[in-house]
Order: sequence, then C-alpha cells, then structure tokens
Amino acid sequence: CGIVGYVGPNDTLGVLLGGLKRLEYRGYDSAGIAVIDPSGGLSVRKRSGKLSRLVELLDDAPVSASGTGIGHTRWATHGGPTDVNAHPHLGDGGRLALIHNGIVENFAELRAELERDGITLLSETDTEVVAALLGREVERVGDLETAFRAVVRRLRGTFTLLAVHLDAPDTVVAARHNSPLVIGLGEGENFLGSDVAAFVEFTRRAVAVEEDNIAVITPQSVRVTDFAGDPVEFAEYEIAWDAEAADKGGWSSFMAKEITEQPEAVANTFRGRVVDGRVEIPELSALGEERLREVDRIVIIACGTASYAGQIGAYAIERWARVPVEVQLSHEFRYRDPVLSPSTMVISVSQSGETMDTLMAVKYAKDRGVTTVSVCNTQSATIPRESDAAVYTHAGPEVAVASTKAFTAQITALYLIGLHLGRVRGTLSPEEEAQAASAFEQLPQAVAEAVETHEQIAQLAHWMADTRSVLFLGRHVGYPTALEGALKLKEIAYIHAEGFAAGELKHGPIALIDHGQPVFVLVPSPRRSPVMHSKVVSNIQEIRARGARVIAIVEKGDTAVLPYADDVIRMPLTDPLFEPLVQVVPLQWFALELSTAKGLDVDQPRNLAKSVTVE
Ligand code: G6P
Repeated sequence: CGIVGYVGPNDTLGVLLGGLKRLEYRGYDSAGIAVIDPSGGLSVRKRSGKLSRLVELLDDAPVSASGTGIGHTRWATHGGPTDVNAHPHLGDGGRLALIHNGIVENFAELRAELERDGITLLSETDTEVVAALLGREVERVGDLETAFRAVVRRLRGTFTLLAVHLDAPDTVVAARHNSPLVIGLGEGENFLGSDVAAFVEFTRRAVAVEEDNIAVITPQSVRVTDFAGDPVEFAEYEIAWDAEAADKGGWSSFMAKEITEQPEAVANTFRGRVVDGRVEIPELSALGEERLREVDRIVIIACGTASYAGQIGAYAIERWARVPVEVQLSHEFRYRDPVLSPSTMVISVSQSGETMDTLMAVKYAKDRGVTTVSVCNTQSATIPRESDAAVYTHAGPEVAVASTKAFTAQITALYLIGLHLGRVRGTLSPEEEAQAASAFEQLPQAVAEAVETHEQIAQLAHWMADTRSVLFLGRHVGYPTALEGALKLKEIAYIHAEGFAAGELKHGPIALIDHGQPVFVLVPSPRRSPVMHSKVVSNIQEIRARGARVIAIVEKGDTAVLPYADDVIRMPLTDPLFEPLVQVVPLQWFALELSTAKGLDVDQPRNLAKSVTVE
C-alpha cells in the first residue's frame, strides 16, 4: 500500500492526491483520504478502484481542507477491495482517522475484545480494528500520541500507521514496524510517505524513520520517539532524484519510458565503479578484504524479476570469483532452515528495498551472523539499511509495476560484485578484468541499439495479439533471461508464458509444441560461444520440425538460424556474459506491446503491486 501525510499551509488535497498518484504503483485496489476541514470537522472520502475513482468522488462530493490530511492507496490483504474496506478507517466516534500498510496478525483476538466491549465494526479489515482500539485509548488517555504508543505495543505483524485526530488538528502521528516510512522536511510544512515519491515534488530533504519508532509532525516541528516514548535522534538526507524523474515525460506508459532509460540505468550503475579498467566497489571494500576472501559460499535471495537478475548474476560471480553461488527465492530461503556459516555471504536483490519476503530473509540471515550485502535501487530503504553493505543500482525511480531498468541495473551491480570479489580473491586475471571493463564501456551503446528494436517488436506483437501461450528458450545466462521474458508477459499481458532451459526441452516441455506455438529463442553468439550456439540452433530445428513459430533473438550477422526462424531480431555484439542485458530488451517491448494490443493497463496490471510489503 501507499501512504501519504501532510501538515502545512498549502493545498492539502493537492499534496495528498499528487502523492497518491506517485505512490499508486504500490497498490491500486482502492484509495482514500481524510482531511481536517476548516470548521474543525473530519472529512473522509474513499472508494474502491484506482485513484481516478477517488478523484471522481471528490468532484461529486468535494471537501475543504485546512492543512492536515492523510491519504492511502491500497493493495488488499484483509477484506476485498470494496468501498467499506478502503482506508481511512474511523475511530473515537468519527473524530479519528487511520490508514495502514501491512498486516496485523493478531487482529482476530483484538476484534473479539472490541466486540465484547460492544464496539461494532463495519469492515472486514484489520485496520478498522486498530482504528477502534486507538479511538478507545484516546478516550481513556485523552491524547493521540500517548494512545498510539499504547496501541502499537499491542499489535503483532507489520505496520506503518498514520492517524489524525480532531483534538490535534495540525498534527499527524505515524508509527513504523517492519513497513516503510519516511518523513519529508519542508519550510513551515512537513510530509510523511511510504517512500520519498510521496513528496519529492515539494521537498528533497528526507528522514528515514527507523524500525519501531513513532513520528509526530506539525507544520513547525518533527519529533521521533521509540515505542516507549524516549526521543530518538534522526539524520536527514537529500533525495538524489527530482520529481521529473518520476514523470512519464511524454511516453504512453512509465514502462515504455523506463525501457528506453536502460542505457543510462546501466551506465549510472557502473560509473565510478569501473575506473581505468579496474573494478572497485567502495561499499564492499569497507567490509574488509579479509572478510571477502573468507567467503566460501554465496546465496542470492530475491523475488520476482530481481530473482532472475540474481540467477544471471550467479553465472558471472561464479566465473570471476570462483565461489559457489546459489539463488533462492526469499520466502523459500527463510523457511527451509538454510545451512549457513560465518563464511556464507547473502546477497539480497530488491528494487524497492522493502519487499517483505526479502527483508525477512535478510534479517534471518543477519541473525545467524552471515555477511549481508544488499543490491537495491532505493536510497535508504529498509533492506540496505539492515545489511552490512549496500551496493546501490542507480536506475532512478522505477514506477511501472513490471520491472525493466531496475533489472538490467541489478545484473550490472551483481557483475560488478563478481569482479570486485574476483580481484580481491585473486581468481580474476588482469585480462579478464580488462575484458569485462571494456564490455561495460560498450554496454550503454549496445543496450541503446537493443532499445531500437521497438518498432519491429511492435509489429510482431500486433500480429500476435490473439496469442494464448508463448514459450521462451535460452541456455546459460539466456535461461534466466527466458524466465524473465515469460514473467513480463504473465505480469502485464495476462498470457500464459513459460521459460525453459533449451536443453531441458527434450525432457518434457517439447510435448507442448504444436502447430503455430510461438517460441522466442535466445541464441548465443556464434563467434564467442560456438558450441552453445550450435546446440541452440539444433534446439530450434527440433521445435520447428514440430510446428513451432520461432522468433529468434540473434547476434547481428548470425545467419545460421535464418532457415529455421519465422522472425529474426538482431542484437548488437556483446561479450557472452553480457547478452542478457541486450536480449531482455526486445522481450520487455514484446510484453508491453502485447499488453497494449490487448487494451490493458501496462503500468498497473491487475492483482499486482510493485512493492509488496506483506509476506
Ligand atoms: C513484486 C513485483 C515484481 C518484483 C518483485 C520484487 O512482486 O510485482 O515486479 O519483481 O516484487 O520486488 P523488489 O522491489 O524486491 O525488487
């Protein structure tokens, strides 16, 4: 869910709706706001569906705001996405409004307690239970902040909570437990948000609220305390990007814009880390060379697209650093009783740095004394702050739910980690390091060429608009690239898609091939990987003989596949390990164009949210 709070003299409703618009990628099942109106009353408007439905409601039933308000955009957990279940929820006889991101696990027993007290709840949500508890507590102790402190200590699970109360009309109180919360510092105004996108339009000064803290903002003041009420010191930081970076800038969708931003995303990620043919990541150096040399096993943990970046990174890290690397889904890692030792390194990969499954896995690893490294795209997010070292990708804000530029930036960062480890551990030869450095230098141009395939892919997608199923094949680093191509299609075009290791095809999946079945094949370079190339060409012949419609993604100049491919998409020349960074681009375009051809919402696909902050 996305959360925003505002106190100040400016257009409160504008700030809240603007913030929600930028946070909508966090969930869009329903949206709502609560503002203190000038007559001292509390106005609440909420509605199921996207933010535009709330805006319509506000047109029909306007509110006037005095300068204090909260807003919420929901990704449903407890209770379906209905008007009643939408946030804010009320307490204290309608004098208090509350919004929530997370899950309160003990809500059933709390609900029973309230019902025993004769309190009737309207919705099915855990949030209304908290609002009612908070209302009852305010009545008892007479003050929102004190009541808040008492209530949050009774909650189990995860939450960011924001509340306003009529008795403190210029105050928003917030609490954080395992869910994200940042403060935006303004002049005579202050902000709260799930992430800085909520307020970056108005201020670039931010404070990351720490775990188990309470923040109280008024136009003139910001206070942070722990759950016991003791003051906590906080440091502000400057947000590295501006509001424009999070705008569509003339593109039809954020995803289209973000696909085209990949040359800069990868360049910004290796810039300053590859200097004169040498790779150096200061954040890893800070861990100490001894510690890096002692690592005897690496586990990469991630979810979704980030896990495929992890799978690709694993090939490169093993190649250069000669350490065994395993990739596990965060939610599987944590509950399998993993074998860990002090010489294990856990590398988490997360665009948002807030994915709850990954955060919990990182905490689990940290508690067992292993070295934790975070690859993350969001400055000061929870996961990098929880980790021993943070290697940021500098892809800039990614708004579309389907990840694109963060993915290529994650691969870049993992490769840099592999090279750094290889150098420190003495497993990387100077020639290999120089070769990789030069591959990085050429990468932005190569990715830019891959972006140019857009028109060709748009044509292809147009012809294939009725396709019900698509398969993707690849070998080596092309295998996780195939998995990512399939995921993109599932996510935004709602088409059944699967990725396979090309060599595995004959062991089962080839039975799926029927006349006209579209299959994308990622073909390795014939110059640099002749053996794998010939194997993949054989695989193409096998599926073609069974009627598949083959769309081959090949290196420029590769003519070997021409007799067997229905469509050929040509890629620039790259080092074999770097092929995923160019080959994934046409697959991203394909998903986008097929989604568009089907008339779907490219940026906000059904049932998904970009940053899933519940387990
Ligand atoms: C969600 C998104 C995916 C994303 C995954 C990991 O499920 O829908 O697109 O890949 O989370 O997100 P992260 O922020 O951890 O990279």
